[in-house]
Formats: sequence, C-alpha cells, structure tokens
Amino acid sequence: MSLATSATTGAKHAFYGASQLARVAWFTGHYLAGRRKMGPIARPGEAPAADAFAPLDRERLKQSFRELFRADWSHIKSGAYKMPLELRRPPSLSRLLTRSRDYLRDTENVARRKYANGHSEVMNEETAGKYPRYYLQNFHFQTDGWLSAQSADRYDMQVETLFTGAAAAMRRQALPFIRRALAGRDPASIELLDLGCGAGGFLETVLDNWPGIKASALDLSPAYLGKAQTTLSKFRHVRFIRAKAEASGLGDASFDIITAVYLFHELPPKIRLETAREAARLLKPGGIFLLVDTIQYGDEPGLDTLLENFPRGFHEPYYDSYCRLDLAGEFAAAGFEKRDERLAFLTKVTAFAKA
Ligand SMILES: C[S@@+](CC[C@H](N)C(=O)[O-])C[C@H]1O[C@@H](n2cnc3c(N)ncnc32)[C@H](O)[C@@H]1O
Repeated sequence: MSLATSATTGAKHAFYGASQLARVAWFTGHYLAGRRKMGPIARPGEAPAADAFAPLDRERLKQSFRELFRADWSHIKSGAYKMPLELRRPPSLSRLLTRSRDYLRDTENVARRKYANGHSEVMNEETAGKYPRYYLQNFHFQTDGWLSAQSADRYDMQVETLFTGAAAAMRRQALPFIRRALAGRDPASIELLDLGCGAGGFLETVLDNWPGIKASALDLSPAYLGKAQTTLSKFRHVRFIRAKAEASGLGDASFDIITAVYLFHELPPKIRLETAREAARLLKPGGIFLLVDTIQYGDEPGLDTLLENFPRGFHEPYYDSYCRLDLAGEFAAAGFEKRDERLAFLTKVTAFAKA
C-alpha cells in the first residue's frame, strides 16, 4: 500500500470511528431516557418469569457490539460496500432534534400501552377485515402499529435506539452476501425483492451500492410503503408492491435475490412457513433468499436471556417461537438449502439457495 493510500485509509477510518461513536452516543442517550420513562422490562406487579437461561453475559454483549463495528469497518475498507449513507450524509441538527422530541414524547404512549398491555389498539372497525388478524397488533406497543405515517416516520429512530446505534450496521452485514450473489453478473440484470421493506432503509443501502439493480419493495402497510417511496425516491427502477409477503400475487420465478429483514420474527409460525414457500415460488432456479433477523437461542449462549426477556417487554408475540425455530429445517420444508450464515451482534444473516 502506498503512503498516500494508507493516509487516505487512515483518514477514512478516523472518520468512520468518530461518526459511529457520535451515533452510538446519540442513540444510547435516547435508549437510557426511554428506559427511564418506560420502566423495567416486566410490568409493575408482574413477577418476572423464571429465567430458563444463564444470567446475561454483559462482557460478551459489549464485545459482540464492538465486533460488529470492526466487521463493518473491515467491509468498508476492503470495498465490499461503501462508507454508509448515514455517515456520509448525516441528518441536519434540526431534523435530529425533531426526531428526538418525537421519539421521547412517544415513549410515554408506549409506556402507557405497555403497562395496560395495550397491544390491540389497531384492531378496530375500520381495520378489521382489511388486514390479517395477526398483523393488527401494536407490535413493540408502538403507536398506531404499522398503520400510520407517523409510525413509519418514527420507525428508524425507534429501531436504532433499541439497538443503541447498531441497527444499520447489523443490516449491512447482508451486503457481502449480495456482493457474492452478484459476482460476474451485471447488476442491471438482477431482480431483487425485499419482503416487509418497512421504511425502505435496507433497500436504500443496497441501491446506494448497486444502483443498477431492479429492486422491488413489498410491504402490507400503505404508510410504510409510502415512507419507503420517499426514502428511495432518488433511485430509478424501484417497484412498490402493497401485498402480503405470504401471498404476494407476483409471478413464479421472477426474482434472483429475495431479502427479508426483521420480518420473520413478526410472523406467526404458520405464516412464516407460507412466506418461505412464497419466496421459493418467486425465486428463479439458483436464486438466493437472505434472511436477516434476530439471533436465536444457542447462537450466543451468554445472550440467550436477553432473547428470552425481549418479548416480555416489547409485545413480540411470535419472537420466542422464532428464536426456537430450526431455520434449516423450516426452509428445507419450503424448498431451500441452507448455504451460509453470519452473526452480526444481535442479528443473524442466513443465506438459502432454492433447492
Ligand atoms: C419489523 S418491520 C421491518 C422493516 C424493515 N425490513 C427493516 O429492516 O427494518 C416489519 C415490516 O414488515 C411488514 N409486514 C409485517 N407482516 C407482513 C406481511 N405479512 N406481509 C407484508 N409485510 C408485512 C410491516 O408492515 C413492517 O413494515
């Protein structure tokens, strides 16, 4: 490496480190402020269930957090993907403050719902029948469930805060898998579908790296799909599809790559299998499915108790059963072969090929 190249890499590393440190501090501050308002994980008066697992290994938690950012930097350094957008173009101060105020104000509503076990507010006369029953819940006790523009606007701040600034870096650990799938192929010939695209953050990262890919963003929520449309407005070739992931209505063998980021742990067991089968139907022969979701019991034994406790405090009715799922078996039943996996702090990326 020449002196000039190593000086540029050093400057980029310093920029990366300083920017991530600032982000982590920002989201950790919000996490702590939110926890103060929301109180302990178990509701007052509710005896915590006996822990099935060993106490949380806090050292391992911190170590795996640091490992994530080390891996993230090493991918950026090697050119596996670009310096992340949120570091290259951080939000303005006024935007940060607006998001901060909105998040902190909303934690009071979340806390109220949590103590009253208010997870069915979005199930009402207006919504009943328009969406599947399992979908009409206030997952995470969030305001409006998946059904309002405010919820979609707030989503990224909530997720980044929950993971103290690690969520975007965790999602990015799927990019090296996409790079491998693209090897020797023209990105413009690739059709990629993101199931449960949410506010569009993951596709934004994908398209920032490979703008030629023909991307499709699918979600059941008109509000989240609308937010994804805004997030992705700078890219051409993006198709927005409002549909159920388990019954998309799209054509057989139409995609080369399908991704699902933090979708599967929100689905009831029966719908999970239907969604995996639907993904197999939609993929071309040799296509790949990338599952990006929570780690499961046993992946990080010192953190199992965190997985056990999480759904108690954050209305996640299907999380525990997801954490116990035999992914290779489930996806084999849907027509996939497991190829590879990688842990990224509290997230696991698993690659499946259509058998
Ligand atoms: C936890 S969010 C994940 C969003 C995004 N993928 C991310 O990386 O943060 C789950 C998303 O899946 C959507 N969703 C949940 N069930 C769905 C289903 N059956 N079909 C389509 N979308 C669904 C929700 O509307 C929401 O936008």
